[in-house]
Amino acid sequence: MNNIFSPTEENIARAAELIRNGGLVSFPTETVYGLGANVYNTRAVASIFEAKGRPHFDPLISHIAEVEFLKEYAATDERVIALAKHFCPGPLTFILKRTDSNPSIDLACSGLSKIAVRMPDNKIALNLIKKSGVPIVAPSANKFKAVSPTTAQHVRESLGDKIGMILDGGACRVGVESTIIDVTEKQIVLLRAGGTAVEEIEAFLGEKILISDGNPNKPSAPGQLLKHYAPKNSLRINVTRKQENEFLIGFGNVEDADLNLSPSGDLKEAAANLFAYMRLADEQCGNKTLAMSPIPTTGLGLAINDRIKRASYK
Ligand code: TXA
Ligand code: MG
Repeated sequence: MNNIFSPTEENIARAAELIRNGGLVSFPTETVYGLGANVYNTRAVASIFEAKGRPHFDPLISHIAEVEFLKEYAATDERVIALAKHFCPGPLTFILKRTDSNPSIDLACSGLSKIAVRMPDNKIALNLIKKSGVPIVAPSANKFKAVSPTTAQHVRESLGDKIGMILDGGACRVGVESTIIDVTEKQIVLLRAGGTAVEEIEAFLGEKILISDGNPNKPSAPGQLLKHYAPKNSLRINVTRKQENEFLIGFGNVEDADLNLSPSGDLKEAAANLFAYMRLADEQCGNKTLAMSPIPTTGLGLAINDRIKRASYK
């Protein structure tokens, strides 16, 4: 079955109709591909959890096409609007107090009193949301715990037959998921490092963000499992010396790398290549296991280190 479609106006209009009618559409964002459904359709929201094999306690992000829409179902204040105006569209998700008690939104939020919202920086995604006329809830379009998809082919490989349409927008520009911040209290908390560097948010705010460290008294993202984003083969990280039976994914000037996330040591390039190279390494490693060079923890390096730590968890 070929369910990959080029993102023509006509195909986006068809996909929008599918969304409105309760179907599932995979669409590109700047971070990774999403598996989208109409936020106001309970059955459609439920079918996302089913397609991914995702537990219901793990809530979904709502994708909107205009900052103004934040106010429709969440409580906002001046600081949130200022942040949104500066960082949207872009790879930043806001956790806000929910004001809409629609049952389908309850399901999308796993019954929590907070909702996750973001505006993706991708023309196809924005066009799809606008044409649908509703916010689109979308997790990454992969099976639960697996590596996130950064191309339409990745989506087809992992969820292909469960999705009505996959809109093909090519490879995702950022390559790691959005940064998630909880902005419901005075102290902003980072719940997931991602495509927007923490340093950038702190510079804009002129204040520090608290890094949530799994402390149960601090807010957290229920989906941040210890093992996640996992390739099929085992992965050893922070490797400076490759062993004989290892397939090395390098970073920077590494001579014996079998693949290199960024030979010049550019963290943005490395983030964009990360998930695709974990898949490639799985395909190419034969009976070797995977290893990865150390990655600095500044800028997008924080998100990369978060993902590879979970990918390597045993
Ligand atoms: O870049 C992205 O954010 C991608 C693209 C498709 O937009 N989406 C994505 O969705 O990564 P997903 O479902 O794979 O990850 C969403 C994360 C999960 O860790 C979830 O627990 C957290 O967001 N989350 C969602 N709603 C939340 C809430 N109300 N409170 C705390 N965490 C929440
Ligand atoms: Mg995911």
